[in-house]
Amino acid sequence: MFEASFIRYLAAKRTVDDRALNRNVWNTLSAALPPATSDRPLRVIEVGAGIGTMLERMIARRLLRRAVYTAIDAEAANIAEAARLLPLWAGELGYAVHMPLAGLEAAQRAQLTRSEEDADIVVELETADVFDFIARQAGRQSWDLLIAHAFLDLLDIPSALPQLLSLIRPGGLCYLTINFDGATILQPEIDPPFDAEIERLYHQTMDERITAGRPSGDSRAGRHLFGLLKAAGVQILDAGSSDWVVFAGPDGYPADEAYFLHFIVETMRGALIDHPALAGRRQQFTAWIEQRRRQIAKNELVYIAHQLDFVGLVR
Ligand SMILES: C[S@@+](CC[C@H](N)C(=O)[O-])C[C@H]1O[C@@H](n2cnc3c(N)ncnc32)[C@H](O)[C@@H]1O
Repeated sequence: MFEASFIRYLAAKRTVDDRALNRNVWNTLSAALPPATSDRPLRVIEVGAGIGTMLERMIARRLLRRAVYTAIDAEAANIAEAARLLPLWAGELGYAVHMPLAGLEAAQRAQLTRSEEDADIVVELETADVFDFIARQAGRQSWDLLIAHAFLDLLDIPSALPQLLSLIRPGGLCYLTINFDGATILQPEIDPPFDAEIERLYHQTMDERITAGRPSGDSRAGRHLFGLLKAAGVQILDAGSSDWVVFAGPDGYPADEAYFLHFIVETMRGALIDHPALAGRRQQFTAWIEQRRRQIAKNELVYIAHQLDFVGLVR
C-alpha cells in the first residue's frame, strides 16, 4: 500500500528539479542579479517554498552571498521541515548556522555565514498564505527577487500574477520555474487511446481545479506566461524548457525518484478515480494504475512532464 507523504515527495523531487532547471535561464538570472553588499544585501522572497529546496540549491550553487531570503509556505508542516533540514544541509555546505535569531510570529530566522566567501545570508521561514502575506506587506516592503518554483501552475495566474509582482521593487527580478505546460508522457505505452484519454482528463482536472473557492490551476501555464508576464509589465529576459525526465539507470532510479514516480501515479489516481468520464471503466483505470506501479517496481517507467522556466525584469 502506497503511503503518500507530501514532504517526502518534495524531498524526492529535488534531484528531478536539479536536472530539469534550465541552465541558460539560471545563468541569465545569475548575470542579472544586482551586486549585493553587507549594507545592501539582496532581498529575496520565495512563495510556495515547500521544504526549502530552492534556497538550498541557490546556496549550494553559490548564487547568493549577501542576502536576506524570506521563504513562505501555507503549510506549517513544510516550514517546520524546512527549519529542521536547514542546519543539516547548510552545515554540509560549510556554513556556520546561527539559529534561531529573534523570531517573528509564525516565522523562524537563521543566519548562515561562511568566512571563505565572506558569505552572510539571513533566512526567514514563515508559514503564511501568499495572498495574506501580500495584503500584510502592501506598501511596506519590496524585494529585489521573487521566486516561484513549481507553484504558479497551482494558482489562477491572471489574477495572482499582478499581486505576486507587487512584492518586487521597480527594476527587480522574478524567477518563475517549473511551470507545467501541457504534456504528461508515460512510457512504455499500455493502451495508447486509453493512455491519451487519461492524460487529457488529468490535464482537464488541473484546468477545472477550485481551491478554497478560487479557480486554481492551468495545465498550459508555461505557454500562457509569455503573454501574461508581458501584460503585467514584465520584460522576459530569458525562458526555456525545464522538463522533468525520470528514468532508471543500471542501478535503478536515482536517489528517491521511484517514490517521486509513485507519488505522481497516486496523484493521477486521486484526480481521476471518481471522474464521471471514467464511470463504467473504473476497473480498467485501476488496472492501468496498477500496471504503472508495476512498471516503477521493475524500473521500466519513464516519466516526462513538459515545463518552462522564466526570468523577468519588473518595470
Ligand atoms: C508543488 S509544491 C512546491 C514546493 C516547492 N516550491 C518545491 O518545489 O519543492 C507547492 C507549494 O505551494 C504551497 N502553497 C499552495 N498554495 C499556497 C498559498 N496560497 N500560499 C502559500 N503557499 C502555498 C504548498 O503548501 C506547497 O508546498
